[in-house]
Amino acid sequence: MNIRGKKVLLRAIEQTDLVLLHKWANDPYINSMIGGWHFPTNMRDQQKWFETLSVSSLNQRFAIEASELGLIGTANLVDINWKDKNAFHGMLLGDKDVRGKGYAVDTIMTIMRYAFEELGLNRLDGSIIEYNKPSYGVYVKKCGWKEEGVQREWHYRNNRFWDKMIVGVTKRDYAELIQKNNYWNE
Ligand SMILES: CC(C)(COP(=O)(O)OP(=O)(O)OC[C@H]1O[C@@H](n2cnc3c(N)ncnc32)[C@H](O)[C@@H]1OP(=O)(O)O)[C@@H](O)C(=O)NCCC(=O)NCCS
Repeated sequence: MNIRGKKVLLRAIEQTDLVLLHKWANDPYINSMIGGWHFPTNMRDQQKWFETLSVSSLNQRFAIEASELGLIGTANLVDINWKDKNAFHGMLLGDKDVRGKGYAVDTIMTIMRYAFEELGLNRLDGSIIEYNKPSYGVYVKKCGWKEEGVQREWHYRNNRFWDKMIVGVTKRDYAELIQKNNYWNE
């Protein structure tokens, strides 16, 4: 079942998405901003990754689609812990032209609504490299996530170590946020 936000639709990743996903997987800017890392990947690696995306109740990866633009990025809910009711979430928007237009806010609001109101989860975890100002702005300033700690010198990028900021949001934080910003009715 597709997951609908106000501006975006979260849907399953299809074979036809792989060309763009492969381009983004090798994009130096995106890789400098996200937590994980990998060596340059070829299309065969991308295809193999796609083939591991079988339906899993523990890891879900979604294509972010916007009307008229089509595929604009990816978002995930991974390491879903059904007992303690939490999961890890991350996202990216692939092209710089689509950033700064509210698609990330809508994706995160949609992911939170789905996680808390459909899956019955109670909190989401995330992490942000200390210099990723857009990510801090969108998660912490706009979407109600809280800074919960810092893992010092966790990332090695551009010849030095950088802190990893631990962030998270609870179902209660989300309820307070939508009461305050009236996101779904504005
Ligand atoms: C992080 C990312 C998803 C944000 O997407 P976006 O399209 O810029 O975000 P939106 O337009 O939905 O949200 C705008 C809000 O984000 C914040 N923001 C966006 N760019 C910002 C910047 N350069 N500096 C500070 N805050 C910024 C602001 O709070 C802004 O709200 P405002 O316009 O009212 O000030 C996008 O930049 C991205 O995909 N980056 C590469 C991958 C990545 O960093 N992923 C997250 C890893 S933790």
